[in-house]
Amino acid sequence: MPPDDLNSTAAKLRQQLAEQLAADGSVRSPLWRVAVEAVPRHEFLPRYFVETLGSGPTTWSPISPELVGVDEWLTIAYSDQTLVTQFDGDPADWRAPAPISNANPTSSSTLPSLVVRMLEDLDVRDDMSVLELGTGTGYSTALLCHRIGDQNVTSVETDRDVSHQARTALASCGYYPRVLTGDGQAGYPGAAPYDRTIATYGVRSVPSSWVEQTRPGGLIVTTLRGWMRSLGLVRLTVGGDGSAQGPFLSGDPHFMIARQQEAPAGLGMIPGPEDGETRETGYGSDVLTGESGFVAQLAMPNARFFAMTTDDGSTATYALDASTNAFAVLARDGAGWSVRQGGTTRLWDDVERSLSLWREAGSPPPSGFGVTVSADAQHVWLGDPDGPRWTLPQ
Ligand SMILES: C[S@@+](CC[C@H](N)C(=O)[O-])C[C@H]1O[C@@H](n2cnc3c(N)ncnc32)[C@H](O)[C@@H]1O
Repeated sequence: MPPDDLNSTAAKLRQQLAEQLAADGSVRSPLWRVAVEAVPRHEFLPRYFVETLGSGPTTWSPISPELVGVDEWLTIAYSDQTLVTQFDGDPADWRAPAPISNANPTSSSTLPSLVVRMLEDLDVRDDMSVLELGTGTGYSTALLCHRIGDQNVTSVETDRDVSHQARTALASCGYYPRVLTGDGQAGYPGAAPYDRTIATYGVRSVPSSWVEQTRPGGLIVTTLRGWMRSLGLVRLTVGGDGSAQGPFLSGDPHFMIARQQEAPAGLGMIPGPEDGETRETGYGSDVLTGESGFVAQLAMPNARFFAMTTDDGSTATYALDASTNAFAVLARDGAGWSVRQGGTTRLWDDVERSLSLWREAGSPPPSGFGVTVSADAQHVWLGDPDGPRWTLPQ
């Protein structure tokens, strides 16, 4: 396709994407709509992987102009999908591209509706300075540059190759923000304080550097996540004393976790059949998923769970906390459930207590919770800051 045709096709696709994002409510203000119409997402995605739906393990197919043709490559680049650019921290082998499965995406261009929704939630105004953590392809960085000017944008990416590619793509579009390679958990004090801080990777708790480097009254938008599941998006207002506070926002977006916070490779010690004490429980393993899974994640922040077939052919669900070797094994017991617990803490007692509080409050969605960050601890609370609370791991 000649360059002029490519550019006009891409411009049309951008227009359509912007219309779609306005119609579904992700774009709420004209200035972000103009940015979506202007920033060429395909320049940040010369090659990428798209998730293919099927019954087996999750598989991603390679997409490039050479593999599928320019039209299809462009059309997918302007669809509202997350497009993966790296797995397991390694560059993909584009000399012999092949579908990938059993791999962990470690860099991507997040679906535009979520990127723009978060930028809207960040409440960015003209001339504000923004710190972005997790540059990725650089697409969201480019949207920020378009909106507030590249001199006001600082972005930190942990992966050297990803950071280099983002810087190159940004420059090819005429954007020259400060793009740094490093651990975003430390922020970037060199250009602080920022009016706004946004992270496009998930964190187990909010790094104190983000709070320290954001101006009092400024906002931090990030996703919190645990090892069992994502907790969702929060927007915190920074206080003047190293504190920050704010609600979970609606929806259930999730991001890849900060590379430095990946769950340990080993699940921990699997208890033997005679270990622990068994009792009845009113809550089965189903509470670990769905809306109640949010509460279970808060109740046992260092645990993970999996189902296993036992010697008698039945299925048991194991929740293990590798940091303490505490465990809870859930099994069917007639029409009800039993739990077998051991270790230094009683994981399932904590889950039951938390679920009871949540149910007494009417089983609210995550937007019924909020977060308080202070210099020495971080809590998720239910209802209001004085309500029931859970400590986040730091
Ligand atoms: C979902 S992608 C970024 C999406 C991107 N902002 C976009 O345009 O859609 C998350 C990125 O965060 C990066 N990342 C993970 N942990 C990080 C850390 N501790 N500091 C900085 N970047 C990190 C990953 O390498 C990855 O490129």
